Amino acid sequence: MTVYTASVTAPVNIATLKYWGKRDTKLNLPTNSSISVTLSQDDLRTLTSAATAPEFERDTLWLNGEPHSIDNERTQNCLRDLRQLRKEMESKDASLPTLSQWKLHIVSENNFPTAAGLASSAAGFAALVSAIAKLYQLPQSTSEISRIARKGSGSACRSLFGGYVAWEMGKAEDGHDSMAVQIADSSDWPQMKACVLVVSDIKKDVSSTQGMQLTVATSELFKERIEHVVPKRFEVMRKAIVEKDFATFAKETMMDSNSFHATCLDSFPPIFYMNDTSKRIISWCHTINQFYGETIVAYTFDAGPNAVLYYLAENESKLFAFIYKLFGSVPGWDKKFTTEQLEAFNHQFES
Ligand code: ADP
Ligand code: DP6
Ligand code: CO
Repeated sequence: MTVYTASVTAPVNIATLKYWGKRDTKLNLPTNSSISVTLSQDDLRTLTSAATAPEFERDTLWLNGEPHSIDNERTQNCLRDLRQLRKEMESKDASLPTLSQWKLHIVSENNFPTAAGLASSAAGFAALVSAIAKLYQLPQSTSEISRIARKGSGSACRSLFGGYVAWEMGKAEDGHDSMAVQIADSSDWPQMKACVLVVSDIKKDVSSTQGMQLTVATSELFKERIEHVVPKRFEVMRKAIVEKDFATFAKETMMDSNSFHATCLDSFPPIFYMNDTSKRIISWCHTINQFYGETIVAYTFDAGPNAVLYYLAENESKLFAFIYKLFGSVPGWDKKFTTEQLEAFNHQFES
């Protein structure tokens, strides 16, 4: 039996201007444009392999070692679009094997908590769609492939690009103009770093899809957010990224996380993604920025309690000093910092 296979990894992206709300739930068309930073492939990532052969009897997906639903509409939409593009290639070149007609076996693994607010659906669907696009040897551009990933999970379209990425909401009813574009490459602002504080790795009670649907249906504050807050913020944040203006980038990132969680609280019944530890991390970030007299760290929380902190490399020891003081010893830090440095961290905050 000849089996065709392809494997890819896709990184997580964490939004600094959040996507929250769909204007079309079938096509995953958003109510607002969003911006994110894609993390390095060496950190949080999905590894997906796709295989196809004429003998395969049904499409299957294994996620983290367990069988996972593939018959849902969103995954099927992705598979249908990818098969359609492959079919167009096959119809132009009769020598190509008819992969578009065969079933797919997909195996995927996330190296970080799934469904816990660390963007597993983003890395997951980006990897699924890229693995099949690679298997089918599709010639489409990254933005075109991002349009298909968007149908699996909205945030996934942004994980197709590295660096700083915008998902432009588009206007068209069929969603052909709703896709990701790169604002800047990670090498344009290489000093930017992200630190993930895993507060809880358990699966959230309310998925992102369910949560945003409830917000759209019940929150008045949400209307204010998409009409007046996000359009202005989109331009301010894009400019801050291009100009490498960390203070503005950080302020807008923190305010947008707070605005998004406020619409969750304003949903009815309310949705609580952050817990007490998350809220303490928010206060600490404001304290640390006050302590140093400048903005050195920004927090953001997706639909879950886990914090992602953005900071510049030059401020790493200032930030980590603070984290060290709060959390005590962190595995591996004795390799990163000397005992004297760790002692000094403790002393810095005594006053
Ligand atoms: P998160 O905050 O982690 O993105 P979501 O509620 O948006 O949480 O989505 C979680 C869902 O995304 C999972 O229950 C699963 O159905 C899907 N998912 C996560 N990882 C993968 C993957 N590697 N491949 C396919 N689907 C995935
Ligand atoms: C808070 O992309 O996970 O992380 O499109 O329904 O799969 P679906 O939702 P998803 O929502 C992400 C919400 C967010 C903000 C963001 O990533 O922009
Ligand atoms: Co998600």
